[in-house]
Amino acid sequence: MANVVVVGMQWGDEGKGKIVDWLSARADVIVRFQGGHNAGHTLVIDGITHKLSLLPSGILRENKLSVIGNGVVLDPWSLIEEIAKVRLKGAHISNENLVIAENIPLILPLHQDLDQIREIASGKAKIGTTGRGIGPAYEDKVGRRAIRLSDLEDDQTLDERLDRLLAHHNPLRDGLGADKIDKNKLRLKLKEISKSVLPFAGPVWKILNEKNRAGKKLLFEGAQGSLLDVDFGTYPYVTSSSTIAGMAAVGSGVAPSAINFVLGIVKAYTTRVGEGPFPSELFDEVSNHLARVGHEKGTVTGRDRRCGWFDAVLVKQTCTVSGVDGIALTKLDVLDGLKKIKICTGYKLGMKKLNYLPSAASLQKKVQPIYETLEGWSGSTVGARSWLDLPPNAIKYVRRIEELIGCTASLVSTSPERDDTILVRDPFEH
Ligand code: GDP
Ligand code: IMO
Ligand code: MG
Repeated sequence: MANVVVVGMQWGDEGKGKIVDWLSARADVIVRFQGGHNAGHTLVIDGITHKLSLLPSGILRENKLSVIGNGVVLDPWSLIEEIAKVRLKGAHISNENLVIAENIPLILPLHQDLDQIREIASGKAKIGTTGRGIGPAYEDKVGRRAIRLSDLEDDQTLDERLDRLLAHHNPLRDGLGADKIDKNKLRLKLKEISKSVLPFAGPVWKILNEKNRAGKKLLFEGAQGSLLDVDFGTYPYVTSSSTIAGMAAVGSGVAPSAINFVLGIVKAYTTRVGEGPFPSELFDEVSNHLARVGHEKGTVTGRDRRCGWFDAVLVKQTCTVSGVDGIALTKLDVLDGLKKIKICTGYKLGMKKLNYLPSAASLQKKVQPIYETLEGWSGSTVGARSWLDLPPNAIKYVRRIEELIGCTASLVSTSPERDDTILVRDPFEH
């Protein structure tokens, strides 16, 4: 039995999509367990780029089951659009290879409205969300007024759920100066889309447990990153779900004991989209290099990603919270050509030294990175598929990261292409 959870160890966009796609060759079932279409996961296969938001990153392989678990928030219109796009690229998608948890909460247009209205109203204090309605949809889930996929099956249930939902949203919208929602129009819109999404609905918890018992390999695909986690991230500049490994169980209905290996996806430097603290952020020619060579533009919103040095303090912290067994180090090639490379190994806070990021927002803003400097390398690492292809200083850099975070590399990625990947230790065969 070997089930693997993949989670991002920084602020998202670590290259989870590429690694999940690569690993999915070894898996039978690929499961999304949190987040929604705020995620943007990029796969490059034989030069062709695929961008996925809701569909698990194993969807392009034949004979794999893709699953969207209950921990995700589902915008049904966005899903149907994404399915159409992926089908155009030749992928086969039907209810034979895609199942969505029947208890998944839906993102509705009113969630997106609220997300955007609040961001605009917050001015400088905005979070910098993707504007997809993620936060408001999770609020309604825990507020026990969400519409779930299975509610679309029955007219009377849907009617009652809409009453409950709008009793909250209409007064709220009124106060914010937005039009009230017409229940009938929303009901019709939902009935219309239900024809396309309901065929995918199923008891995901049951299917996954049966697959697990039958010895099938499950691969859980996290979205966002641990520093965007609603508890352990840089709150309030976070997303509204748990993004750490423990969520794989909660967000799919599989026991924590079924998880055998946690693979942390770690970018060889640091990026972040949206607002919030970022101790090792740079505003110089190095950040320009990282942004340019790493094509650091948001997959979902097209916003520029902020760039900085690798922060070993943060990654050690997030590896601990998720119990990471091994990392996949991505985008090593982006550091090619830098003469000196720095790693943040601690923080200064006044006269004090810290070896973790405290949760108080006032301190997160004030900490100053302590760096150690390594020599860069002059050769290219682009496309390397073995340690032998790496310049000695690139290997030293990887080894130093492993030492500082207390976790070894299972994989190293050296370009966006699926197969430009060094396998050190197979997470499914640990
Ligand atoms: P995700 O959200 O974690 O799946 O990451 P994104 O897809 O949003 O962003 C990662 C970007 O880096 C994508 O454009 C990938 O194609 C690209 N990428 C992934 N791994 C590598 C790598 O090893 N080297 C380079 N140069 N690009 C990579
Ligand atoms: P993937 O899966 C990077 C960020 C947003 C914002 C904060 C809250 O591609 O790594 P939200 O819309 O979730 O309420 O926004 O979280 N964010 C991401 N940043 N990668 C992502 O996903 C992200 N999903 C959300 O930029 O700062
Ligand atoms: Mg992304």
